[in-house]
Amino acid sequence: MSQFPPVDVTVYSYECDAFGHLNQAAYLQVFERARWEILSRGPGADLFERHKVWPAVRRATVDYLLPAFPGDLLKVDAEVEKLGETSLEMRQRAVRARDGKLLAELHIVFVTIDREGRPKPIPAEIVSIFTPRGSRAAEVVRHDVGEVSLAADVRGDGPALLLIHGFPLDHSMWTHQVATLKGWRRIAPDLRGCGLSEAAGDYSMATYADDLVRLLDQMQVKKAVVAGLSLGGYIAFELVRRYRDRVAGLILLDTRAEADTAEGRASRETLIEVARKAGPGAVGERMLPRLLGRTTQRTQPHLVPQVKEMAERWSVPGMVGALGAMRDRPDSTALLHTVDVPTLVVVGEEDEVTPPTLARAMTSAIPSAAMTTIAAAGHLSALEAPSAVSRVMAEFLEAVPKP
Ligand code: MLT
Repeated sequence: MSQFPPVDVTVYSYECDAFGHLNQAAYLQVFERARWEILSRGPGADLFERHKVWPAVRRATVDYLLPAFPGDLLKVDAEVEKLGETSLEMRQRAVRARDGKLLAELHIVFVTIDREGRPKPIPAEIVSIFTPRGSRAAEVVRHDVGEVSLAADVRGDGPALLLIHGFPLDHSMWTHQVATLKGWRRIAPDLRGCGLSEAAGDYSMATYADDLVRLLDQMQVKKAVVAGLSLGGYIAFELVRRYRDRVAGLILLDTRAEADTAEGRASRETLIEVARKAGPGAVGERMLPRLLGRTTQRTQPHLVPQVKEMAERWSVPGMVGALGAMRDRPDSTALLHTVDVPTLVVVGEEDEVTPPTLARAMTSAIPSAAMTTIAAAGHLSALEAPSAVSRVMAEFLEAVPKP
């Protein structure tokens, strides 16, 4: 049965009882929050609404194993255990991130009903999402690539698609693309110094590109379509510069070819100070107002803590290193007209960091590149409008000669 990768849920003090820990009612809410988060990162929070049915809870049992306190970060997954004609049984586990201890487990039974409360058969799309066939389960692989060990979320079989995250994010920004771009072996690594990967040594676009090529070597991947968002795009340019024969196609999301301006370099210095003095979460907080589009900030406020949590998964050296690497990155504009692989440029309509004007200029400089603008999304288009971005990526991948 289908298992969905865990999402992070922070325990807040207002959810806790007089004794100071999560009580039964609050636990049910934590599990529910995680389910919506899993749905919105995967098939979309409107999955049931699209099919005019509603998953009504018929029974829920929580097993408490250990208490959870305010500030605890829980990793909550979801696994569909049984699918009936109109019913769905699910198990969810809440694991404390700090030490991997299982805190609580939920067994929950839903019946899909219509507006009048009558049970309705589970629609075929929902059945297929909960019973994936021919696709490998989520797997976090870890490979030594020289001085560091890198972790990557790897899913599916087929030609390789390398998904390189932006800053200050990690591989989990690609959750929707990793879950849905079937027919491709989706490889979403954490760059050195963040997420589940180790921090060590130097940081530069060249080092990141070397790390990723070694990761592909370890996975016996000769060529991949490379998708990079923002920082991921800077690294994709470096892969073209240094390892052209490994790149079968490019998807450049919310990124730019130009190097930092003097003003940009100065603001990297400020953020390096913030990272050192106040930690990676503080850098995430500072950047957030420009990362998420204005529509997303209004309509999807849950993405704010999600991005902040990704920033918190960076180590201080990893974050300082990435800021220095972006400050010192080479200009890639001269490279653009030499790109000779199919290329798709994607940009959020409300992206203020790398706005659509830049994306248009980049598209015209790359021979035979196409461009798509994502409505109502900002700089983190793949996270803010996951279904729309996965759809345009799927259409592009369909047409790319398979590596
Ligand atoms: C990113 O999203 O990777 C960053 O905005 C890149 C940058 O700061 O140049």
